Amino acid sequence: MILSASAPESIAACAASTRAGGLIGLPTETVYGLGADADNNAAVAKIFAAKGRPADHPLIVHVSSQDGGMSAVAHFAARVPPFAQQLMSAFWPGPLTLILPRRDGVGSAAAGGQASIGLRCPAHPAAQAVLHALREASADQAPVWGIAAPSANRFGRVSPTTAAHVDSELGPDLLILDGGPCDLGIESTIIDCTRGVPVLLRPGSISRLQIEQACGQKLLSNEELLAQQVRGLEAPKASGTLESHYAPNAKLRLMDAKALQTAVNLLGDVMYQQGSETRPSIAVYARTALQKVPLSILLRRMPDDAAATAHQLFAALRGFDDAGVKLIWVETPPDTLDWEGVRDRLQRASVS
Ligand code: TXA
Ligand code: MG
Repeated sequence: MILSASAPESIAACAASTRAGGLIGLPTETVYGLGADADNNAAVAKIFAAKGRPADHPLIVHVSSQDGGMSAVAHFAARVPPFAQQLMSAFWPGPLTLILPRRDGVGSAAAGGQASIGLRCPAHPAAQAVLHALREASADQAPVWGIAAPSANRFGRVSPTTAAHVDSELGPDLLILDGGPCDLGIESTIIDCTRGVPVLLRPGSISRLQIEQACGQKLLSNEELLAQQVRGLEAPKASGTLESHYAPNAKLRLMDAKALQTAVNLLGDVMYQQGSETRPSIAVYARTALQKVPLSILLRRMPDDAAATAHQLFAALRGFDDAGVKLIWVETPPDTLDWEGVRDRLQRASVS
């Protein structure tokens, strides 16, 4: 069931369902989440079951922006290194997830059994309204400190950026709060703060440069850290780092503009010989204007700007799937820092 986030009773219904151990579809500024009380292990187990996600893949816990997120952080985290504190001050509420050492006995199922916990304070007002309502305590009601919420899609599929996307995959019984299309469109940047130095686990809308400027430290990749052998700790599991993730049903291939034009030309010749098909079987998503694109190709222009592309990327991929294409040809995004999040998602979605 889809509820409008602008109605106060929708917020109350989602908070009540969460308190009762149920699941909700939660809008955030990145993508929609499938949420449950982060300290209720039985409720969190329902998330893994609904998504078909392995139970040892940790989930992100969303916290209220009251007092800058600090009392929720104190509830879930055992320690907060100074650089993590600086990142929270700079980017919360916002699209940044920090992996911190977990306090014993909290968020165990959400953490997938890890000794750490992923925390994020989302900027979406509807998410914050639910989180605020959950923090309210009374004589017969303890506060709920956080909502564990992975993206509200089935495991391995493209993340949802509208309430309708969530409904198509996990509805109709799920309570979904409709907060409109997500502003950013790709998942949060994830920084591991458990290893002495900041380590980038997943790129997102906040760039590497912004992170480094905010905390005054170099941001390492997992590989760089291992190479430096700062510590011999085991690499954390991040399902976003599995090879085939965020995949549409159609086969996606990345090509530069020249290769794309060559492929379109070849296809045009074949189609001319065969007569045009009624249903497009190939979609093209490109920034560069292509010449002589056969009518039977489903053409969608990729914006010139990374943020605008992130905003529409997952909806575009879903749209190509809905149109029934078998192949999606995508122009490789520019090799600049601002495109890192989009590049990452497209590389994971592409066939090797
Ligand atoms: O933007 C987002 O982050 C969205 C919205 C809903 O907030 N959420 C999201 O959640 O993308 P999910 O579960 O699809 O991705 C969570 C990522 C996974 O790659 C997971 O492994 C990693 O965060 N993660 C969470 N807790 C972790 C931990 N304790 N250690 C290492 N990685 C962790
Ligand atoms: Mg996901």
